[in-house]
Amino acid sequence: MNADSRTRLNQTPEWTALAKHHEELGEVGLRELFAADPGRGTGYTLRVGDLYIDYSKHLVTDETLRLLRELAAATDVFGLRDAMFRGEKINTTEHRAVLHTALRAPRDAVIEVDGENVVPAVHAVLDKMADFAERVRSGAWTGHTGKRIRNVVNVGIGGSDLGPAMAYEALRAYTDRDLTVRFVSNVDGADLHEAIRDLDPAETLFIIASKTFTTIETVTNATSARTWLLDALGDEAAVAKHFVALSTNAGKVAEFGIDTANMFEFWDWVGGRYSYDSAIGLSLMIAIGPDRFREMLDGFRIVDEHFRTAPAESNAPLLLGLLGVWYGNFFGAQSHAVLPYSHYLSKFTAYLQQLDMESNGKSVDRDGRPVEWQTGPVVWGTPGTNGQHAYYQLIHQGTKLIPADFIGFARPVAELSDELKAQHDLLMANFFAQTQALAFGKTPEEVRAEGVPEELVPHKTFRGGHPTTTILARELTPSVLGQLVALYEHKVFVQGAIWNIDSFDQWGVELGKVLAKRVEPALTEGAEVPGLDASTRALVRSYRELRGR
Ligand code: F6P
Repeated sequence: MNADSRTRLNQTPEWTALAKHHEELGEVGLRELFAADPGRGTGYTLRVGDLYIDYSKHLVTDETLRLLRELAAATDVFGLRDAMFRGEKINTTEHRAVLHTALRAPRDAVIEVDGENVVPAVHAVLDKMADFAERVRSGAWTGHTGKRIRNVVNVGIGGSDLGPAMAYEALRAYTDRDLTVRFVSNVDGADLHEAIRDLDPAETLFIIASKTFTTIETVTNATSARTWLLDALGDEAAVAKHFVALSTNAGKVAEFGIDTANMFEFWDWVGGRYSYDSAIGLSLMIAIGPDRFREMLDGFRIVDEHFRTAPAESNAPLLLGLLGVWYGNFFGAQSHAVLPYSHYLSKFTAYLQQLDMESNGKSVDRDGRPVEWQTGPVVWGTPGTNGQHAYYQLIHQGTKLIPADFIGFARPVAELSDELKAQHDLLMANFFAQTQALAFGKTPEEVRAEGVPEELVPHKTFRGGHPTTTILARELTPSVLGQLVALYEHKVFVQGAIWNIDSFDQWGVELGKVLAKRVEPALTEGAEVPGLDASTRALVRSYRELRGR
């Protein structure tokens, strides 16, 4: 369907039908839904690759799901999906194809952008990365003084940091434990300071990751890292052995002083937040090795193929996307929690924040008209069980509806001691208990039956009816991580397609960048910045006083 010929979402009959259905469903609770359908606990589930997805604890009936699928059909989600996989320029405001799926396509696939098959270039870069990663891992690639590389520092921000940092953490059990791998993103000098203060420059490799190679934080940190290295090694030639670049911009890489032979390329059809399975994953590949990295790509591909071919009734990204639309647009839910019960996934939700919020944090549609419906939710969360002792109170008994994803694994990682492995059942008992408590709560009658004094009954009652998705896999392997990330990538895609927004641009981050450039001279030199508002002018004055200027 042509975007600009599209009926406004909230004027479609499918939307109206959902609004009506929402009214009719009223306050129906999960207790009633489960009582009405004994097969719900197994029937409302999906298997995708290694992921078992239970969506039974959602405030939906067969009718809800049917109506949601009709909305997806009316908004031609699968049409846009096919256009994406074909390499059409569906990122309309930047006139770009959206082809992160090509990053994990098999060698013999043919995917064309402007008439050129991009798959051979994808594999050429993967092979070059594998060769380099092996040389670093084996010690064949040495630093300027001939010492072996023992430390890898990825310098990047946003998509050039969050993906590899998240995946490195997630797959720590698969990493070469003799290598120290760190990630520097913040322009706050403290970040770089803490990352390198105990490292030997002669043993340190900096990976400068930036799609554009113009991002001020990354260029500033990279420049400081080079100064640190050259202060120690005293020879400009050292840069060639201690700096590599991951970028689409060879000109800027060369200008910075990195030999483009030490550059690993990717392309403008890879969005930053969709890029960690491209060259941006080099630090991860060095840490886990090329074979594991390829296993991760295989995992991505399993879910890509599922999304591309599974019918609407059993298409997991479609379903998860639709459930988000259901709560955001018809229940008024503002946020979505992602709660992994795996310490290794401690950065997973932070990664998803960029993926989801930078993609779908939009308020005009593809034609530039203001949307009249909610778009992307606030995504948040941290690993269980920690969150249980912090903010779960609000999810259980607060006034907001917060749909949540619970992600857990049947097996702890192999290298834990037997005693630590035994803790896994306790972790997972909490995992299952929480979704049960959220769904079914505790009625006042049940509270009273425990002999609770009447004045405390309201306080100890759990309303229940809090929707959750449970995603369970056997263990957190590279492939399973790839599957999980692809699942969320495509879920975000589905929602953007329904809301008729461009999920692949990010103009909203520009204004702050421009203003920061304008304000900086006021801080450093006390320069008069024309057009500075009264509040900011006063704050800058205070800052300069406190800074001793
Ligand atoms: O400012 C936002 C952003 O453009 C993100 O989309 C991107 O991931 C990040 O900055 C870093 O950009 P780059 O990889 O070009 O340095």
